[in-house]
Amino acid sequence: MSNIYPSQHPLVAHKLTRLRYKNTQPQKFRELTREISALLTYEATADLLTSPRQVETPLVETEGVELKERIALVPILRAGLGMVEGVWELMPSAEVWHIGLYRDEETLQPVEYYNKLPASPTVSVCLILDPMLATGGSAVATVDIVKRWGVSRIKFVAMIASPEGIAAMQEAHPDVPIHLAAIDEKLNEVGYILPGLGDAGDRQFGTL
Ligand code: PRP
Ligand code: URA
Repeated sequence: MSNIYPSQHPLVAHKLTRLRYKNTQPQKFRELTREISALLTYEATADLLTSPRQVETPLVETEGVELKERIALVPILRAGLGMVEGVWELMPSAEVWHIGLYRDEETLQPVEYYNKLPASPTVSVCLILDPMLATGGSAVATVDIVKRWGVSRIKFVAMIASPEGIAAMQEAHPDVPIHLAAIDEKLNEVGYILPGLGDAGDRQFGTL
């Protein structure tokens, strides 16, 4: 599968196991979500462009670099919200533009309820954040929105994907790399990822 990057890092695998565990409480769940998001972002941003920048150390002047591109984080509400803090720890000046979508429980189709993107894009790179890539409906719809906004350099960062969700994204947006903690086995009959972690929004916000 091209453009799909499941992390091979043991810290990610260790933390994801704790995240999956059914008795992990919301406070710990949020902490793990933050930490895994930072680790995945470290991997996802390895190709960001830099420009040269001189820096004075206490001893001499030397050549350094600074990030060249303006970056936005695009969390998909609600569950993507919990990923923002972890990514911000690495890129505190990233803009955050929220997209509100929920999955209709009957049809499993995404329903848009919040989008305040300005008319013209303010960034050149968007990291879309959502812990779960299940049927792929929410991910595909959000990439559609961001592309229509005018940003073409997009990365999707998630905790867990199903093979069905990956196939949907590869069909609709093969140009968008997907960075993941794990690819799971399948969807169940009501569209939940197996083995998965349950409902990522409810587990973060204590609304089970
Ligand atoms: C969850 C999850 C994704 C979506 C994935 O959100 O956070 O956004 O489902 O499913 P899909 O790939 O089949 O579209 P949900 O609709 O439960 O909303 P919430 O984050 O507000 O709980
Ligand atoms: N949304 C979730 O939060 N979990 C799933 O397994 C699928 C969609």
